[in-house]
Amino acid sequence: MEITVGIITVSDRASAGEYVDLGGPALMKAAQDAGWQVSAEAIVPDDKARIQETIRSFSQQGCGLILTTGGTGIAERDITPEAIRAIMRVEVPGFGEVMRAESMKITPNAILSRSLAAIVDLSLVIALPGKPSGAVECLGFISGSIPHAVALAQRVPTSC
Ligand code: MTE
Repeated sequence: MEITVGIITVSDRASAGEYVDLGGPALMKAAQDAGWQVSAEAIVPDDKARIQETIRSFSQQGCGLILTTGGTGIAERDITPEAIRAIMRVEVPGFGEVMRAESMKITPNAILSRSLAAIVDLSLVIALPGKPSGAVECLGFISGSIPHAVALAQRVPTSC
């Protein structure tokens, strides 16, 4: 099954042009290396409504997988998990559990990420940490579980 991906960088500074977005391109390369098709990209501020409308728009455009990077921590502006939880149908907690557990073997700061996965409309949405290397590491820990989850999100007939 072809996986069509949308990538959203969530960062006040990157969206204002004060900081060059490195997370989006890093995830694009990781997605392409996995054999997936990246069809949409955006940089948005740490703003709940902007995050939500971008996710919904990418879902409507046919992205079965939507990756966000940034805003998963505990800084005052970090709001990505709340934005996703307010529009999701269900959360898939295993993704966040594995990302944190595996990342803890790399850095104790991994415990600060509230990374998660959820089904929004017909898409699997995965919220990754903002550090480019961390986002790519986390994606690597869960990539094997993504195709089946995307097929279920898209209601494509699939066998376990
Ligand atoms: N996970 C991995 N695998 N590697 C990392 O470098 N950085 C952590 C964590 N998760 C990191 C990681 C740090 S320093 C923070 S503050 C949190 O992700 C939250 O990052 P965010 O707020 O940019 O999403």
